[in-house]
Amino acid sequence: MAETTNIVLIAGGTGFVGEAVRNAIRDSGRQVRLLVRSRDDAERMQELGFETAFGDSLDPQSLYAAMDGVDSVVNLVAIIKESGDATFERINFQGTANLVNAARQASVARLVQMSALGADNLPAFPYHHTKWRAENYVKDHIPEWTIIRPSIIFGPSSSDEVQFASQLADLVSSAPVIPLPGGGTARFQPIHTADVGGAFTAALTDDKYIGQTLEIGGPEVLTYAGMIDAIAEASHVNKPKIPVPVPLIRFGVRLLAPLPGVEAPVTAEQLDMLQLDNTTANNAAPELLGYAPKPFRGNLDFLKDYL
Ligand SMILES: NC(=O)c1ccc[n+]([C@@H]2O[C@H](COP(=O)([O-])OP(=O)(O)OC[C@H]3O[C@@H](n4cnc5c(N)ncnc54)[C@H](OP(=O)(O)O)[C@@H]3O)[C@@H](O)[C@H]2O)c1
Repeated sequence: MAETTNIVLIAGGTGFVGEAVRNAIRDSGRQVRLLVRSRDDAERMQELGFETAFGDSLDPQSLYAAMDGVDSVVNLVAIIKESGDATFERINFQGTANLVNAARQASVARLVQMSALGADNLPAFPYHHTKWRAENYVKDHIPEWTIIRPSIIFGPSSSDEVQFASQLADLVSSAPVIPLPGGGTARFQPIHTADVGGAFTAALTDDKYIGQTLEIGGPEVLTYAGMIDAIAEASHVNKPKIPVPVPLIRFGVRLLAPLPGVEAPVTAEQLDMLQLDNTTANNAAPELLGYAPKPFRGNLDFLKDYL
C-alpha cells in the first residue's frame, strides 16, 4: 500500500464536466493534480491554482509518472464522438485500462470512474459498450472502485467544449423550424454540472460508496422535445417543431459524410443513442448530495451565450 497522501489525480479534468468536478473536489480540501495534454492547458490550470502532470491516456509511460504520490484517481476521460484514431475503443476502453494499470503499478487503491447511464453490453452502441467494458476493467482491477453513471449533463462552463444543451440552444436559435428526431420522445434526466461535481466529491470522500455503481440524474424526466421547449421558453423563442424520422436524418448524415470539410451536425452513433432511455429509477444524486439536484428548467441562464 502506498503511503496515504491527500493528492487526487483527475484525468479529463480540463473538459466540460471536469471543471465542476475539479473545483468541487478541491473545495472539499483535497489537493488536485490534473492530467494535461498541452502546455497551454498546463499554464491555464496552474493559473487557476491546480497542480498539473503531463499525460495522455493512450501513453502508459506518461501515466506512471503522473501517479507519483497519488492517493486516489478520478477518471473522466472519454469521447462521445469518434474522430480519426480517437476511437471509442481506444479512448473509452483502452485509455481507462491504461490508467487503471498505472494506478495499480503505483499501488493506488481508490478510483472513481465516470461512466454514463445506459452503459451496457450493447455492441451496436459503441459508446455505451466501451463505457461498460471500461467499468468492468475498473471493477476487475481496482480494489476500491466507485462507478458513477450520469444522465446528460448541463451547466455553465468556461471550456469551449460543446454540450448537449448548448447544441439544442444553437438549434433553437438558428433553425427556422426545429426538427425532432424520431418525434423527440427520447427521455432524459439532465443533471447540473455543480451536482455532478458534488456527487463525485461525496463518492470519493465516503467509503460507503466503495464497490458501488451509482446512477445519477436531475429531479425531472424530460423528453428531447421537452428540453427543446424549456430552452425555447427560457429564450423567449417561439418556433414550430416538426417530427423527423430517424432514418431520414441518418440518410442526410450519410450524404454529408464523404464531403471534404463538411461536418454533419450529428453522428450516426449519436442518432442511435437517441433511441436509448437516459433516465434512472434509482437516482443516487439526492443521497450523495444531501439535497435535491437542480432542475433543468430554471437553470438555463448560462445558455444566453448560445441564443
Ligand atoms: N457531457 C455529458 O452530458 C456527459 C453525460 C454522461 C457522461 N459523461 C462523461 O463525462 C466525461 C467527461 O465528458 P465531457 O462532456 O466533460 O467531455 P469533454 O469536455 O470532451 O472532456 C474530455 C476530457 O478528456 C480529456 N481527454 C480526451 N482524450 C484524452 C486522452 N487521450 N488522454 C488524456 N485526456 C484525454 C480531455 O482533455 P483535453 O482537454 O486535452 O482534450 C478532456 O479533459 C466523459 O467520460 C463522458 O463520457 C458526459
